[in-house]
Amino acid sequence: QTTPTTPTTPTRPQRPPLTPTISSPARKKGVKDFEFGRLLGEGSYSTVVAARDRVTQREYAIKILDKKHIIKEKKVKYVNIEKNTLNKMTHPGIVRLYYTFQDKDSLYFVLDHAKNGELLNFIKKLSSFDLRCTQFYAAQILSAIEYMHNQGVIHRDLKPENLLLDEKMHIKVTDFGTAKILEQNSDGKEDDRANSFVGTAEYVSPELLKEKAACKSSDFWALGCIVYQLIAGRPPFKGPNEYITFQKIVGLEYTFPEGFPAVARDLVEKLLVIDPSKRLGAGGQAGVDRLKNHKFFDDIKWDTLWQQPAPKLL
Ligand code: ADE
Repeated sequence: QTTPTTPTTPTRPQRPPLTPTISSPARKKGVKDFEFGRLLGEGSYSTVVAARDRVTQREYAIKILDKKHIIKEKKVKYVNIEKNTLNKMTHPGIVRLYYTFQDKDSLYFVLDHAKNGELLNFIKKLSSFDLRCTQFYAAQILSAIEYMHNQGVIHRDLKPENLLLDEKMHIKVTDFGTAKILEQNSDGKEDDRANSFVGTAEYVSPELLKEKAACKSSDFWALGCIVYQLIAGRPPFKGPNEYITFQKIVGLEYTFPEGFPAVARDLVEKLLVIDPSKRLGAGGQAGVDRLKNHKFFDDIKWDTLWQQPAPKLL
């Protein structure tokens, strides 16, 4: 008896097996998928470079972090915070994280490329903004803060270097490496406060200096400093060194230059309040709504804010 054999079709020349390839959406991206361009920024732990997807031609900003340096300087936690916070946020006013990957030496974060760079450069170039531009940019920054706070994220280092401008001259908040993720505690409440990080001297809140505690309200203090700076051309608290700057902050030592619009002065005075719970914007969504309803924002249409053309800076 013969064992049955699989019937064979008449042979035809076989192609050599191809190297398996997975088409773009499923495959993890890597360095080879991008063409790297000019340097966009340099921090103490990272370098940001313009890059283009070789297939789609889409432009990105890639943040490159040196693994050895991060481990040596004990910044692993902050790199994870940046990745985790960015991964949970999708908002027109916040830089989006598209891909992350690594090679032997580096970590790569593929981000939105904000074509017009830092808000700080526009403040320097123009000296200051008019009231209308200040209202628009303050509204966009506030809208982004409202979103991140609702996602349980406190930025803790808002300043004109971390506020980028895209091709539409709209705000994109970046640098979540020093952010804090609020955890839900057993009561279902967000566990606010805690942590010892101190941001950039001029924008640091008094509660961070005195109690080493940041809360959502600390981002509203920074907003007050930024609104002041957009109009005055310089931050409200600035000493010859950090120590003097900190003394001015905790002592609420600042003055308004002549010609500072009254409506902006009223807003700044309600944001630069020492007690974080008494600051305009504090107290959850009701507080944020009160801030958005301040007369400084009377001309702002909140529901179409991200569809509107930016006012011309002059
Ligand atoms: N500089 C730092 N990050 C940037 C980004 N995402 N886009 C443009 N410039 C940057």
